[in-house]
Amino acid sequence: DTEATTRAGSAVERDRTVAVVGTGTMGQGIAQVALVAGHPVRLYDAAPGRAAQAAEAVVGRLDRLVAKGKLAQEERDAAAARLTPAGSLGELADAALVVEAIVESLPVKQELFAALEETVDEGCLLATNTSSLSVTAIAGALRLPGRFVGMHFFNPAPLLPLVEVVSGFATDITSATRAYETARAWGKTPVACADTPGFLVNRIARPFYAEAFAVHEEQAADPATIDAVLRESGGFRMGAFELTDLIGHDVNEAVTRSVWEAFFQDPRFRPSLAQRRLVEAGMLGRKTGRGWYTYDDGGAHHPE
Ligand code: NAI
Repeated sequence: DTEATTRAGSAVERDRTVAVVGTGTMGQGIAQVALVAGHPVRLYDAAPGRAAQAAEAVVGRLDRLVAKGKLAQEERDAAAARLTPAGSLGELADAALVVEAIVESLPVKQELFAALEETVDEGCLLATNTSSLSVTAIAGALRLPGRFVGMHFFNPAPLLPLVEVVSGFATDITSATRAYETARAWGKTPVACADTPGFLVNRIARPFYAEAFAVHEEQAADPATIDAVLRESGGFRMGAFELTDLIGHDVNEAVTRSVWEAFFQDPRFRPSLAQRRLVEAGMLGRKTGRGWYTYDDGGAHHPE
């Protein structure tokens, strides 16, 4: 009926529970966004005690917002009271939306969603924050794949506005619209896209990185020069070298590899040998103090 269809396509109501499964970097950020938007938020993590720790960390971040004058004390108190850790998946039964941000592994995500389907009701929207897996493949294990969608946030989720709302092969339009409208109600800038390897951002970025690395390998220019050109002339906020140093070469290379393989090893997306060497050497970027650049004081960098 029309009313049910319209309702299914509108944002998840503010008084409905949003569950976040996997409470690491991304899960905590997404939980904070949903919480500040007014939802009751329930956290679940497979590692014992981690959901409770994550809840404390999220409240700690709200405290910092209060200290900076960006959030009222009463809002912080009300939000903290709406945030609850769950000890089992069964405690997510009343969720209207589950956002998954667990380890980036297809079988592990499939297993989680199969278990979630036994718990939540049929109207519950199921979303994955995967950055490199196929939404269609994760949904392949579901009984009701129509209500499954990608909601790809960017790190740090509370600060970065973009959310890619990804429709898999079986995603129905009302679920995609509901995810899109929810992201918008949370103050984000959603973009709708189909399930293509890397979605939009991670796909389009690959050839930029690859070409920058190739220019460096040909010794045409050094990283600092190429980064400066991308920033000053190309209008990028960060050049390919400083950005991949920030992301971490282990993470960045894994995504490149996954997009390349998903496109049947199309050379446009081929991983870089120079980046492979950095990973092998344990020079993962800022987090290890050295990548394309060397970092001495947590911020400033200088070329090799
Ligand atoms: P993380 O390692 O910080 O957190 C993952 C959490 O999931 C851990 O607390 C772990 O205990 C928990 N977990 C693992 N298996 C679980 C299971 N079966 N059930 C419940 N909890 C489980 O990872 P991070 O960086 O937050 O990434 C999570 C997801 O978000 C991945 O799919 C990743 O590709 C995606 N993503 C990551 C971004 C980033 O910049 N870190 C950006 C956008 C998406």
